[in-house]
Formats: sequence, C-alpha cells, structure tokens
Amino acid sequence: MLKPEIAKLLNEQVNAEFYASNVYLQLSAWCEAEGLEGAALFFRGHSLEERTHMDKIFDYLCECGIPVTIGAIAAPPTQFANLMEVINAAYQHELKVSAMIKNIANQAFQVQDYTTFNFIEWFIAEQHEEEVLFGKILSKAKMLGFDGSPGQALHHMDNFLRALEQHA
Ligand code: FEO
Repeated sequence: MLKPEIAKLLNEQVNAEFYASNVYLQLSAWCEAEGLEGAALFFRGHSLEERTHMDKIFDYLCECGIPVTIGAIAAPPTQFANLMEVINAAYQHELKVSAMIKNIANQAFQVQDYTTFNFIEWFIAEQHEEEVLFGKILSKAKMLGFDGSPGQALHHMDNFLRALEQHA
C-alpha cells in the first residue's frame, strides 16, 4: 500500500505529465502556424511521449489500488517571439519535470517505499535523456549561431529537429 504522501505526489505527476503533453502540443501548434514543419513534428512527437509518461504513472497508481484524480489542467503558454524561445521554454520545462521526479525518488526513499523508488528510476533515466537531447539542440543552435531570427540557420534548425524526431 502506498503511503498517502507518495500517492499524492504520483497523482500530481500524472497531472504534470498531462500538462507537459499539452505544453508540447501547443509548441507544435505554434511551429505549424510559423511554417516550421520539422519543429512541429518534433514537438508533436514529444507531446505523445509525455502522454505515455502520464499513462505509466496512471497504471502504477491503479496497480497499487490508488484512485487517480485528474484535475484542471492549466493552459500552456501560447506566445513566443521565435523558435529559440520555444526551445528554451521546452528545456526549462524539462528541468522542472526533472526536479519533480527527483523529489518523488527522494520522498519514496525517505519513507522506505522501495517499490515506488524502483518504479520512478525509469523516469530518472528518461529525464536524463531529455536533458541530453535538449543539450544537443542548444549546442546545435550555438554552432549555427541561431538566435531565432529568420534565415538559413532557422531552416537548418527546423531540419535538425525533424531529423531528431525521425530517428527517435
Ligand atoms: Fe515526462 Fe519530458 O517529462
């Protein structure tokens, strides 16, 4: 049986992953509207991935006999100056999620809930992958001298994001 404080954190994480899915869907919509098809594909793929994260925690709570509560999901940000701002927003969001996941691991360990600790390890590895991925994107932007302005570098970034999604 999960301790109430752990069940609460996991339930919050279900909602947070749902929100993350909507954040990426909104970023994808922004990219579509700007004609950035590669970036739109990349963020659309990420939106679906976040949905699978939500499902994973949802299933775990169900297995543990904990009723899941889906709350009101906040509207994600919609206004961005350019693709660089979108990429930075996504990266900052991932850092927040990483902190939430590490907090669950920490709390589970503190109360000796090793089942949840073991379960959440998958997410720790996943967040590491996400941070590495966004690190690569930011390095590419630096290499191209990309600051979000229209031009050759924007075209390259759009193609780079498309390639990342196609090889995911
Ligand atoms: Fe499910 Fe990208 O955090």
